[in-house]
Amino acid sequence: MKTKITRRTMLNIGTAAGGLAIGGAILGAAGIRSETKTATTLPWPWREIKPEEIQERAYQSAWAKIGCMYGTIEAVIGTLADKYGAPYNTFPIDATIYGSGGIGGIGSLCGTINACGLLFNLFSKNQEDLFALCQEISLWYENARMPSYKPKKPKLDIPIVSSVSRSNLCHISSTEWANASGHKLLTTEHFERCNRLVADVTVKAVVMLNEYSSGKVAYKEKLNSFSQGCQSCHGPGKVKANVASGMNCDTCHTNPH
Ligand code: HEC
Ligand code: HEC
Repeated sequence: MKTKITRRTMLNIGTAAGGLAIGGAILGAAGIRSETKTATTLPWPWREIKPEEIQERAYQSAWAKIGCMYGTIEAVIGTLADKYGAPYNTFPIDATIYGSGGIGGIGSLCGTINACGLLFNLFSKNQEDLFALCQEISLWYENARMPSYKPKKPKLDIPIVSSVSRSNLCHISSTEWANASGHKLLTTEHFERCNRLVADVTVKAVVMLNEYSSGKVAYKEKLNSFSQGCQSCHGPGKVKANVASGMNCDTCHTNPH
């Protein structure tokens, strides 16, 4: 514990001194305001979490606010806050409720993926790693069959049909599931499905962060071959270069050429 704080303080000072000519002043301030800096300076240290520890919490928290983004963040940051206190307990978890239903019910980005982006931002060492982690989990989400988690204390104790979302968008993910299951959306059944899915994605995020922090993360996901073909002309730096997307193209496009 003591070693960790010392190492982190040194890191903070190192960054400030390296980046600014007024290093002396910054060093002085760093000593005085160490409490504030602990909470606001990123990255925060990641502490390993066992997936089994947080699955049910993610599911229950998601139900608490009918909030997918909230469920993931509450389970991860809440667990770290309970165990280790600061800086984790300084995070305003309620500020993630907006992510529900693809940002305030719009059906845009699934709140679990939004949550993963936030977690990766808190715990990754640089922007390159951050983007790689975001892309990995987004493509994983597109292809994964979910939900698979069976809650210990289900709010709605029925078998839930699983489906492949094909997209990180709440609209597409949910409608794929509506078609697979025959259930209507914005019903208790739909929320049960989504809140179990929150447990699945939270586990994936935690496994990725465990691996990342121990230097063992392997990036496995790729655009499918259809989409790689499109990107060879429409992607960044190519002849058309008019598409900025890391989502699979065939979810929405057929080949128009
Ligand atoms: C060999 C290069 C190349 C590849 C590969 C390619 N495109 Fe295109 N695409 C173009 C060019 C060039 C245009 C502009 C054509 C024009 O102006 O008539 C275009 C236009 C389009 C348009 C708009 C015009 C239309 O016909 O509706 C869409 C949509 C599109 N491409 C989607 C795709 C998708 C999806 C893929 C992958 C399956 C793909 N493209 C692969 C070169 C390519
Ligand atoms: C979530 C759905 C979605 C995904 C995924 C998606 N697109 Fe699109 N794309 C659209 C929509 C909607 C438009 C606007 C279509 C229009 O203007 O008619 C569009 C427009 C385009 C256009 C311009 C068409 C034009 O009129 O000039 C191209 C090219 C294109 N997309 C290529 C891609 C490629 C390549 C990928 C994969 C890397 C991709 N899209 C992924 C929905 C999607």
